[in-house]
Amino acid sequence: MSGAIKLNFTELKKFIEDSSAKIVVVGLGYVGLPTSALFARAGFDVTGTDINRELIEKINRGQCPAVEPGLLDLVVKAVKKGKLKADSDTVSAVEKANVAVIVVNTPIQGSDIDLMPLEEASKAVGKGLQKGTLVVIESTIPPKTTEDFVIPILEEQSNLKAGYDFWVAYSPEQAIPGKFLDEMRNQPRIIAGINPESTELAATLYKKIVDAKIVEVNNPAVAELAKILQNTYRDVNIALANEIALICEKLGIDVHEAIELANIHPRVHLHKPGAGVGGPCIPRDPLFLIEKAREVEVKPRLIELARQINEEMPDHVVRLTLEAFEESKRQIANAKIAVLGVAYKKDVNDVRASPAKPIIQGLLKHGAEVVVHDPYCNETFGGKPAKTLEEALDYAAAAIIVTDHSAYERINIDYLMEHMQNVTIVIDARGVLPSVSKPNLVFKRI
Ligand SMILES: NC(=O)c1ccc[n+]([C@@H]2O[C@H](COP(=O)([O-])OP(=O)(O)OC[C@H]3O[C@@H](n4cnc5c(N)ncnc54)[C@H](O)[C@@H]3O)[C@@H](O)[C@H]2O)c1
Repeated sequence: MSGAIKLNFTELKKFIEDSSAKIVVVGLGYVGLPTSALFARAGFDVTGTDINRELIEKINRGQCPAVEPGLLDLVVKAVKKGKLKADSDTVSAVEKANVAVIVVNTPIQGSDIDLMPLEEASKAVGKGLQKGTLVVIESTIPPKTTEDFVIPILEEQSNLKAGYDFWVAYSPEQAIPGKFLDEMRNQPRIIAGINPESTELAATLYKKIVDAKIVEVNNPAVAELAKILQNTYRDVNIALANEIALICEKLGIDVHEAIELANIHPRVHLHKPGAGVGGPCIPRDPLFLIEKAREVEVKPRLIELARQINEEMPDHVVRLTLEAFEESKRQIANAKIAVLGVAYKKDVNDVRASPAKPIIQGLLKHGAEVVVHDPYCNETFGGKPAKTLEEALDYAAAAIIVTDHSAYERINIDYLMEHMQNVTIVIDARGVLPSVSKPNLVFKRI
């Protein structure tokens, strides 16, 4: 074993400042890979570790599994220069490192928080941990997890004491898919050490890749909660927009116009209604808070209700489709329905918790022939795949816009009517098309 030089605070800070510190990033997923590539670009020697061997091989070949603007180029350059390599052995990579960044997935299984990947990653980091190492946790986690869950594992595995023998900080990743590299660099970054030394070291590290303000607090729990609050705020806000959309639908008022108008007030920032809320973060983070609230015997009514409203939106899309078929006096059974977009958001290939899944499955239950198109991914959730937009639309009775990909910007009502059956049903579940009324068209919009 050739361990890293055991550094004191001043030495490690200097190593970080001059980019000579060796960094391990544990977890090379949507967040871990761009993080690794940015550290490598800042001049550090970076080893990214993962349990997914296929991913490791791809990265070492200079391939980039995620669709993310600018990432492929960055990964290829970093791998070529020898600044970034991927490995499956976290323990030995941490033994040789000065900094370990943990950015593994923290999913929900049903309504239970699954901290197993974090536990396994923490154990491996703990086993390899040397005196004088900085450990940063970037994964989104319930409040108090750094101090009550991660640190005890690190200490037990290493026989070292956090805050004395090694430093620990929490720094939540706040960037969104499709803009990871841009937002990682240009968004203010929260750094929360367990003591002032940990905060200072982690802040020094992130200043190497972040051009925006670094906000320092010596309290990981408050930062863990702040990250969860960001997505809980968005979930509740979207639920409000969705509820307003349901009311507007019956009132015959254009919800998008109303929200746009309301937002001219400088203190009003209503979000957009839509097909539902997907992705790995927004639907999950409020559940972290709900779970914590339950532990301390507080009933989180608003947060729970917002979750429920957003979860019901895919069913509403199916309901709108059924109504449209009824209005056009046709059967949904055996009708060809083109679902446009499977990814949970614009211009990404991520289908985690995508509203497309319950929409497609709901349509299939009613006997529809569902044909699915997405320029970024092959997932169909049980529908038939279409290679091109034209193939999906060809002679379809209905089209449902589920994801507002840029590739669909060319779509307008005339284009749809031209490619589909004479009587055309269009369900715009993202509010991208202007409200329109035409003969032989049934148009519904959330
Ligand atoms: N994707 C996003 O939009 C986003 C944004 C902000 C924050 N986050 C948070 O960042 C964290 C990572 O998210 P992600 O989207 O990159 O997840 P991901 O599932 O894409 O990647 C996680 C990676 O960790 C690996 N992994 C799991 N256990 C491991 C272990 N024991 N050792 C090594 N590797 C292991 C997995 O194989 C996977 O490649 C999560 O907590 C997430 O909530 C995600």
